[in-house]
Amino acid sequence: MILLDGKKTSNHIKSEIASEVDKIIEDGGKRPHLAAILVGSDGASRTYVNAKVKACEKVGFHSTLIELPEKTSEEELIKSIEELNENDNIDGFIVQLPLPRHINEKRVIETIEPTKDVDGFHPSSVGKLALGLPTFISATPNGILELLRRYNIETEGKNCVVLGRSNIVGSPMSILMYQKAYPGNCTVTVCHSRTKNLKEFTLNADIIIVAIGKKEFLKEDMIKEGAVVIDVGIHRVPDASKKSGFALKGDVDFENVSKKCSYITPVPGGVGPMTIASLLSNTLKANLRI
Ligand code: GUN
Repeated sequence: MILLDGKKTSNHIKSEIASEVDKIIEDGGKRPHLAAILVGSDGASRTYVNAKVKACEKVGFHSTLIELPEKTSEEELIKSIEELNENDNIDGFIVQLPLPRHINEKRVIETIEPTKDVDGFHPSSVGKLALGLPTFISATPNGILELLRRYNIETEGKNCVVLGRSNIVGSPMSILMYQKAYPGNCTVTVCHSRTKNLKEFTLNADIIIVAIGKKEFLKEDMIKEGAVVIDVGIHRVPDASKKSGFALKGDVDFENVSKKCSYITPVPGGVGPMTIASLLSNTLKANLRI
């Protein structure tokens, strides 16, 4: 079994990005600038956004964090987005999800200017992705593709099962895995909460991407020997032995599944750091207008 080391790979990507930033500055260009809007005080969201801001510093980007209170109205949030759309200083920005329940997420995403949509969530970005046109690819699926690419994992003609159909991960991931490209050219099956006889699908999969949001959902009796397993899940579980008071688990029962597969991502240190590296890479593209 080979561990797909997202931490090491993302550090590699970050140093490549940092070199590109040095070149931009040497050539008299503008330093890339990412902004993030965080609404409310959800602990996990705050941790993710802080990690994104810290990663910007590491590669030499400017970053701006806009923190809005939980009770922010939809109109106020839309106004903040419109300001970022018009601010030439900002190359790209994200609105951290989930949003408080009183805010219409769809309307918020549709307000983001597509040329600054470095999360790749706007319908125009998703539509281009589905058509195989160049666009910002949402950070988690893009990070997974990059991990497959950098470990030279064969994908052509393989059976790929995507567990989960979210707009952020499962849906774009499934499209990317059947695209006529590398990584891609898979025969893709999307399974979800209403799938019957799930095991029949997962046992036939060469590559399984698990983004179902249930702790340690994928067990060893659900996969075939030698499968490639990508774990998108992240769950906090109380753990008194840790300084933080919690440990992180994925959607995969890592301890048992890892014994049976050829490649697997750990949690933490797998998909998570790759997501951040992809966001930086999208921001660099926005800065260079490519
Ligand atoms: N919430 C969970 N993942 C993401 C992400 O990739 N981007 C944003 N904006 N919110 C998220």
